[in-house]
Amino acid sequence: ANDRNHPSPRPTFKAVQPNTDDAVTVPENYDHHVIIRWGEPVLPGAPEFDFENQTGEAQAQQFGYNCDYVAFHQLDDDHGLLWVNHEYTNEELMFAGYTDGSEAEPEQIRVAIAAHGGSIVELERRNGTGQWCLAGGERPFNRRITGNTPFRIAGPAAGHELLRTEADPDGTEVLGMLNNCAGGYTPWGTVLSGEENCDQYFVGGDRAPEDQREALARYSIAVEGETYVGRRFDRVEERFDLARHPHEANRFYWVVEIDPLDPEAQPVKRTMLGRFKHEGATTALTEDGRVAVYMGDDERFEYIYKFVSAKKYVEGSRKHNMSLLDTGTLYVGRLTGNSPEEEIDGTGALPSDGEFDGTGEWVPLTSDSESFVEGFTVEEVLIHTRMAADAVGATKMDRPEDFEPSPVTGKVYCCLTNNDAREPGQADEPNPRGPNKFGHVLELVEGGDDAGSESFSWSVPIVCGDPEDENTYFAGYDKSKVMPIAAPDNVTFDRDGNLWVSTDGQPGALGVNDGLHVVPVEGRFRGELRTFATVPVEAECCGPLISEDNKTVFIAPQHPGENGTVEEPTSTWPDGGFVRPSVVCIWHTQGRDVGRT
Ligand code: FEO
Ligand code: CA
Ligand code: CA
Ligand code: CA
Repeated sequence: ANDRNHPSPRPTFKAVQPNTDDAVTVPENYDHHVIIRWGEPVLPGAPEFDFENQTGEAQAQQFGYNCDYVAFHQLDDDHGLLWVNHEYTNEELMFAGYTDGSEAEPEQIRVAIAAHGGSIVELERRNGTGQWCLAGGERPFNRRITGNTPFRIAGPAAGHELLRTEADPDGTEVLGMLNNCAGGYTPWGTVLSGEENCDQYFVGGDRAPEDQREALARYSIAVEGETYVGRRFDRVEERFDLARHPHEANRFYWVVEIDPLDPEAQPVKRTMLGRFKHEGATTALTEDGRVAVYMGDDERFEYIYKFVSAKKYVEGSRKHNMSLLDTGTLYVGRLTGNSPEEEIDGTGALPSDGEFDGTGEWVPLTSDSESFVEGFTVEEVLIHTRMAADAVGATKMDRPEDFEPSPVTGKVYCCLTNNDAREPGQADEPNPRGPNKFGHVLELVEGGDDAGSESFSWSVPIVCGDPEDENTYFAGYDKSKVMPIAAPDNVTFDRDGNLWVSTDGQPGALGVNDGLHVVPVEGRFRGELRTFATVPVEAECCGPLISEDNKTVFIAPQHPGENGTVEEPTSTWPDGGFVRPSVVCIWHTQGRDVGRT
């Protein structure tokens, strides 16, 4: 069947070959362009970017650094709002002569804080195609959120003692979001975004109160040795010094919710979704109309989580829906393989039943009113979620990154990006290689196909690497017809339900640039993974996102040239000068659906 609305689901584009070019490379018959770069004006009256004379005040009005999650809300046929996370900063590429945070000019630190967060910019369609450009003039929805924007703290842990600080004795408002990695777009039109590696912003853990150091360490914050290192945000804002403000770290590592359609609305940190290194947060509706949120904790040997709301989603009732993420149940995943343990030898060789697969349960940690973990209150489960999950024996995964349900089948896909620390003897069926250098993709089918289920089945359809390596697996597909992939990270779906997987780590694992791969996950071409785009030197490929009309792929090449400096650059993307992390769109030059020839 090849009708206009449901074309053949097999992507037929001519694949991009693996390369090390300092460029975005797209297939034949496709074109791409940079929509917006680091430093370009976002807010009305924002100054033009001046690389030599940056200020925090200017940066707070301009597009931020390192873009990760991308969302797109179409306003009408030819206008839309682009949301982008600015995960972190590479100061040595932003400032000439930069050495480290201890030596940095205070104004450089203020620029870095303002370059974090996110941006909303209005786009307009060009030429009736899938090409989108920055809309000129003053745009009412344009917005910057930074490391200093006030956020409301919502949900059951709001106001808890562990969230109170000298500056916020009520524990209900925090300045800024930091290290926002992947995210999701809710059915009611808000952006969810995960605060991830927040440990890199806090100093003084060795001088934090003794009784708080265990929890700080469980969140990967240094609590011994020389802890006054890194960006040294504490030199301009002392709240980042845990010796003086030990609770400030508890106010980060949350999922935030932002309403792109209301520039006045205060962004919110949703404590009901737990506190860990949130990669992203993607939603599905349950059989009875509640909302489920899938979330990974991206660190080695960490867990996968799901939240299910208590209340139902009500179409059109924005105010009601904005409260859905404050009550419900938070679960952690426990996965059991169905093959004998001795058949999982750590190499990635398939067990005798031919598949890494099994069953799993969503173990409830807490509802908004009742904790299910002995020794933890509701608030303690939410603030120290990792420790609560340890206590129930959740399954330690290989760095769970993006975790997203297919809008076509409801099956849920999670990228396990890699884990160099897993010993061969620690391999298990859901994480079958030790060490896991190339990563794998988990497919999860909820019981009764209901996102609200407390049980599921799972399999590993893709064991990444070079297909010539015998211990790779592409859903049983002919490996002579698939392409190499390593370090799967962000995912999205096209209208036909093909899985698009971007990567962060192919240079180290395969010696080629990161990129964006497409793989059918249903039907006879399941497993036919091929490369759609590659990104510049030392960049990871973020986004990706496909527009609702299936005509545009948005990607965000993050941290191009990250191993270089201003003086000794390893990338000059996108303009041939200093590197500028940017957002790019890709479209078929004849206006065909993305993935077509
Ligand atoms: Fe920010 Fe897990 O990548
Ligand atoms: Ca098996
Ligand atoms: Ca990521
Ligand atoms: Ca990553």
